[in-house]
This record gives sequence, C-alpha cells and structure tokens, in this order.
Amino acid sequence: MAMENVKQFVFVLSAAAAVGFVCIVFVLRWVLYFREGLAWDGGAAEFNWHPVLIVTGFIFLQGIAIVVYRLPWTWSCSKLMMKLIHAGLNLLAFVFAVISLVAVFDFHNAAKIPNMYSLHSWVGLSAVILYALQILLGIGVYLIPITPVSIRAAFMPIHVYSGLFIFTSVVATALMGITEKLIFSLKDPAYKNSPPEATFVNVLGILIVIFGALILWIATRTSWKRPSDQVLHTLHTNGGGEANSKVGPTMSQLSGGGDTEAFGDVRRRSSKLDDQVD
Ligand code: HEM
Ligand code: HEM
Repeated sequence: MAMENVKQFVFVLSAAAAVGFVCIVFVLRWVLYFREGLAWDGGAAEFNWHPVLIVTGFIFLQGIAIVVYRLPWTWSCSKLMMKLIHAGLNLLAFVFAVISLVAVFDFHNAAKIPNMYSLHSWVGLSAVILYALQILLGIGVYLIPITPVSIRAAFMPIHVYSGLFIFTSVVATALMGITEKLIFSLKDPAYKNSPPEATFVNVLGILIVIFGALILWIATRTSWKRPSDQVLHTLHTNGGGEANSKVGPTMSQLSGGGDTEAFGDVRRRSSKLDDQVD
C-alpha cells in the first residue's frame, strides 16, 4: 500500500476505534448512572446486560473482526493466523450476543413480559441466527483444509456481502432497541420532553451509526485490501518481477471490483486464484 494510502487507512481506523470506544463508555454510563446498574437478579439490572453486551460484543468486536484483515502491520503474518483471529473475534462477538439474549429472555420471564413480540426482537434474533450460520459456513469453507479452492473463491463474494449485511442489520436492531427502551422507561419526564437521559442516549445511537459507517467504509475500500502472500513473496524476492507462470484473476477482479490501484500490475500478473481466498 502506498504511504499516503496507509496514512488514510490509519486515520479512518483510529476514528472508528475511538468512536467505538466512546460507544462503550456511553452504554456503560447509561446503565450505571441513568439506570439500575448491572446485576444478574431477574430484574431491570439484569436487562441492562443486554445493551452493554450488544454494544461491546456484537457491535464493537464484530466491527473489529470485520476489518482485521485490513491492518497493514498484520500482512507479514500468515493468512491462517489472520483467519483464526477473524474467526475467533467473530466467535467472541457471538458469545456476547448470546449472553445478552439470555439476559433479556430471563428478565422477561421473571417479570412475566411476553417474549418475541416486537419488530426489534424479530430482526435481532434473525441477525443472531444468520451470524451463527455465517460462522459455521466461514469455518467450513475457509478453515477446513479439504474445501476446494474453487468453492472458496465462489463463496467469497457471498461471505463478504452477508457479513456486511448482518453487521448493518445489527446496527439497525440496536437503534430500534434503544428507541423502545427510552419510550418504555422514560415516564416522568417522558421521552418526548427530552430529559437528559434521552439526549444522552440519542447521542449513543448517532455514535453507533457513525461507527457502523466507518467500518463499512474500511471494508469496502478495495485499495486497502491485504495483498496475497504470493505477491509479497514476489515483491521481496524478485522486486515485483514476473515470477509466477500461473496467472489468474484476483478476488477483487472476480468480485467485479477490478480495483488494483494499490498494487497495479504486480497484483494482476502474479496472483494465483487461491492467493486471495485461501
Ligand atoms: C428485547 C435482540 C440490541 C433493547 C430483545 C429480544 C431480542 C433482542 C431477541 C427479545 C427478548 C424476548 O422476547 O424475551 C437484540 C439484538 C440486538 C439488540 C440482536 C443487537 C443489536 C438492543 C439494544 C437495546 C435493546 C442496544 C437498547 C437498550 C431491548 C428491549 C427489549 C429487547 C427494551 C425488550 C422489548 C422487546 O422484546 O422488544 N432484543 N437486541 N436491544 N431489546 Fe434487544
Ligand atoms: C472476509 C465477515 C466469519 C473467513 C470477510 C469480510 C467480511 C467478513 C465482511 C470482508 C473483509 C475484507 O474485505 O477485508 C465475517 C463475519 C463473520 C465471519 C461477520 C462471522 C459471523 C468468518 C469465519 C471464517 C472467515 C468463521 C473462517 C476462517 C474469511 C476469509 C475472508 C473473510 C478467508 C477473506 C479475507 C481476505 O480478503 O483476504 N469476512 N466473517 N470469516 N472472512 Fe469472514
């Protein structure tokens, strides 16, 4: 990646990390200062684990997991190592999401509130189920060594699309959940009268949207993609010369991106099909 490109990447990544961190601080301040705190007692403090674990795990950790291949300082690590980190972070985000669901179901059952009546819960549970499927398919296709390279390549655009789609749905679900919670719990003064808690948590919602937007921006820049190990090897040993006789399209070309501005000819000439998908 050209130096200018690296600088831009680091700037957007730092902005995303900072906004994500502030989201976590905001959700903690919401439940600890404005609400009932955190506990596992079947009451409101148990419900509060729901937004806290969603924001820290299902939004922040998932966002980091999505962009982890893009970090230029990890490009010297093996692809397998990066796959394990990507899969591990996504798995951790999933565990947070499941515990957050246990908290809200437990709270509803203890308080005799019906389950699964809201649009928020329908979209949310669908996102969690799709996320589990994405993890299972991701492991099956990219971590099990016997899966043929042709299947890995054919599945990649679907994997990337569904990953970004699920992430976006999670952000939308969080906004619905926040709105519901403010309407339910702010009574006197009501949400419509804009008490300090309402304004504070509205800002949290905006910050979540900004975090989502930055992650989606990073994940859709083809010029910030990890070069294949093959290209790095070629650059190191041959000064970028013609080293590889097996020439094939890169993933960005396969998926219609065609953006080779970062590596130009080198990437186009010396990438084997499996470099980008192994
Ligand atoms: C309830 C999922 C984020 C507030 C629920 C339920 C699910 C769910 C499945 C139904 C539980 C039941 O019926 O017993 C999710 C997912 C989220 C998310 C996947 C990921 C973004 C949030 C956030 C808040 C929130 C950030 C903010 C406080 C609520 C509230 C309920 C609830 C108030 C109870 C009312 C209802 O069932 O709609 N959530 N939630 N959720 N969630 Fe979330
Ligand atoms: C790439 C999402 C689980 C393997 C990606 C990308 C996204 C994504 C958005 C594109 C990243 C980029 O363009 O830089 C997800 C989500 C998952 C998940 C949301 C969990 C629900 C997995 C698992 C594996 C895996 C379990 C197994 C190893 C890969 C591979 C790439 C990838 C090999 C290609 C990276 C490259 O461009 O070289 N994933 N993924 N993913 N993912 Fe996943």
